[in-house]
Parts: sequence; C-alpha cells; structure tokens
Amino acid sequence: MPVTENARFSDPVPLLREDFPACADLYRRAFAGSPWNEQWTQDQSLAILDFFAAHPGYQGYKIVTAAGEPAGFLMARYIFPFRDFRIDELVIAPAFQGQGLGTRLMAHAEAVAAALGAEKVSLRTQAQSPAEEFYRGLGYDASAKGVHMDKRIA
Ligand SMILES: CC(C)(COP(=O)(O)OP(=O)(O)OC[C@H]1O[C@@H](n2cnc3c(N)ncnc32)[C@H](O)[C@@H]1OP(=O)(O)O)[C@@H](O)C(=O)NCCC(=O)NCCS
Repeated sequence: MPVTENARFSDPVPLLREDFPACADLYRRAFAGSPWNEQWTQDQSLAILDFFAAHPGYQGYKIVTAAGEPAGFLMARYIFPFRDFRIDELVIAPAFQGQGLGTRLMAHAEAVAAALGAEKVSLRTQAQSPAEEFYRGLGYDASAKGVHMDKRIA
C-alpha cells in the first residue's frame, strides 16, 4: 500500500466492495452532522454505496489510515457520451476532516477523469454549505449553462 510521507494516510487507492461496510459507517456518521443532519441507518448507507457502485462507468477511491481503516472515500462515474466525470459521493470521516484528504481525493479524481478523456468534472452539493466552500476552493463553480431543478411529488 503506497503511503504518504508522514505515513498517517495512504495515497488514494481503489475502493473495494469489502470496504463498503466500514465506508457505510463512515458515510452515516459524516452525514449525521451539520449541515446535512441525515439519519441514515447502516443498511440505508450500504444501499446508497451499492447503488452508486452499480452505475456504468463507476470509479471509486479511498484513503486509508496507517491501521488500514478508511479515512475517506469518493465515488464517481464517467458518463463517457458527455465526457463528464460525475462525483456522486465524497466523504471524509469526521475525525479526519480539514487535513487535506478531500482535496487529495478530488485531485486523484481529476487525474483519473483526464486520463479517461473527460472534458469536465461535475457534482452537486448543498448551496451555502462548507462543502460548497470546499469545492469553490478547488475551482468549481455553479454551472453557467443551466439551473438545477426539482419538483416535490410526495
Ligand atoms: C467537505 C469535505 C469533503 C471536505 O474534505 P476535507 O478533507 O475536510 O477538506 P480539506 O482538508 O481538503 O479542505 C480543503 C479546503 O476546503 C475548504 N474547507 C474544508 N472544509 C471546510 C469547512 N468546513 N468550511 C469552510 N471551508 C472548508 C478550506 O478552504 C480548506 O482549505 P484550508 O485547509 O486551507 O482551510 C469533508 O469535510 C466532508 O466529508 N464533509 C462531510 C460530507 C460532505 O459534506 N461531503 C460532500 C457532500 S457533496
């Protein structure tokens, strides 16, 4: 396993199915906090990970601690007809946020996207949230080409 200079965290490496239970637990804990305040159960979190991993063009990466536990992970898919590399989930464990791991996973995703021939990397997040600040800091901006729309039907 490649490790960084201080050996606290690995470099980004592929996310494996066997990582999903630990990553679902990480996901549940990370989104329980503000501003998300989600109350996903472990089973719901696992179902979310399974769902994104089942997409065509799926790519997943993790960073692990020196003990081998996932510290954060990213799930994405390359929508090749649009040359769009879409980030579906990016989650850093609460204890390891603010230490550059999200930045490293995004840099890795961008490198993979470029190698695949992507024209852009896209994602959706909550407006006026720490996540929006994080992505803006990495050069992401609201799309000038369109507006995200939804309609409540239940
Ligand atoms: C958002 C998230 C992915 C960022 O990852 P991270 O590893 O904590 O962020 P980094 O340490 O790489 O931060 C890089 C920069 O982002 C910005 N940033 C990160 N967290 C921030 C926060 N809470 N508020 C404002 N800016 C923030 C800062 O500019 C930071 O630079 P700095 O370290 O020089 O201050 C991570 O905090 C997380 O998993 N949060 C909970 C789940 C979530 O919101 N996921 C994204 C949903 S789409």
